[in-house]
Amino acid sequence: MSDTVSAERWEAVPLAPPDSIFKLTAAYKADTHPNKVNLGVGAYRDDDSKPWVLPVVKKATEILLNDPTVDHEYLPITGLPEYTAAAARLVFGKDSSVIKDERVASVQTISGTGANHLGALFLSKFYGWNEKRIYVSDPTWVNHHAIFPQVGIPVSTYPYYDPQTIGLAFPAFLETLKTAPARSVFLLHACAHNPTGVDPTREQWGQIADAMLEKGHFAFFDSAYQGFASGDLENDAWAVREFARRSVPLLVCQSFAKNAGLYGERVGALHIVAPSKEGAARIKSQLSVLARAEISNPPAHGARLVSLILNSDELFEDWKRDIKTMAGRIIAMRKELHRLLTEELKTPGNWDHIVNQIGMFSFTGIGPAQSQALVEKAHIYLTSNGRISMAGLNSHNIRYFATQLDKAVRGEL
Ligand code: LMR
Repeated sequence: MSDTVSAERWEAVPLAPPDSIFKLTAAYKADTHPNKVNLGVGAYRDDDSKPWVLPVVKKATEILLNDPTVDHEYLPITGLPEYTAAAARLVFGKDSSVIKDERVASVQTISGTGANHLGALFLSKFYGWNEKRIYVSDPTWVNHHAIFPQVGIPVSTYPYYDPQTIGLAFPAFLETLKTAPARSVFLLHACAHNPTGVDPTREQWGQIADAMLEKGHFAFFDSAYQGFASGDLENDAWAVREFARRSVPLLVCQSFAKNAGLYGERVGALHIVAPSKEGAARIKSQLSVLARAEISNPPAHGARLVSLILNSDELFEDWKRDIKTMAGRIIAMRKELHRLLTEELKTPGNWDHIVNQIGMFSFTGIGPAQSQALVEKAHIYLTSNGRISMAGLNSHNIRYFATQLDKAVRGEL
């Protein structure tokens, strides 16, 4: 085939823009400035800006390496059974009635993104829609806006973040829950909202559950930060467990990228709660059909690691300690950034949100022009909405960041 024929064929393919988060990683890597700081992608770094392999993951890897029964055969289509079962117990709690009654259809997925996609695909085909549409928070993780349209589900937003208070726009959020058509699907961040770091209080979660039950809405939980947010696995699962206890119809997309530091292994799970054991079996059979057509079988290595960690009392305790190390460092960075801005630099404005927000991200409240100035003039990489990955800050670079943020806020950058 000649080049001309080939060129004609693909002429209509437009050039897509780069991903707004991963383009920052590439730009940061290419930057040679000695003070560069990467606050873009949500990936944990230690106090020396280095990726951190959790000690418990090293231990589990060692065990796998020395296990003569480990081979490279296919996993079942729905994943490693001891992994998906333990993952479900982790999110719902082992004493939850949905676990005891075997009402959860659990399938291993390509991390949280794969869980979102599989959940979306399943709903697209089988949900009893009044109107095919998903409501996501304004703002939300950018990829949510890509995942649902990909399977033919249009996206609408519900008010979530109030720029005036740099907090939750709770009355407007509740109003949307009350006025949306019955049986609407709402995507909720289980904890550590991405990108704002603003979570509802338990009392507010209760009101959200009330409104959802009243309208027969469906909760599509994205749980990417269990344990990573507060340092406590139980605490970070509270909203999901409360909704399950109150029988709000729901599914959960679960990721072990952040809380186990297994970003590249793509270890996730989709859990759909059914009204009965028999219903869960039917749902699982359809998820299996969808998974077979898309990935055939999920990857084994990461799932084996997480399975070892979740199913061994000793490794589980080690993991909890590692989670506390990560969450603790991030909380310490929040306190230090707040101190620098308020006590040392006396940066104009109120910065209490830095310590009140939770998890990997902080929404600083600065606008796109200030964010761009930080990237272009200070070599500090962050998304244009003013989100910073707290994990990118450490004892060596936090003062530089605070000083540059202060300048950006004063319009002096
Ligand atoms: C982020 O929001 O930075 C992370 O969840 C990484 C990603 O996949 O976007």
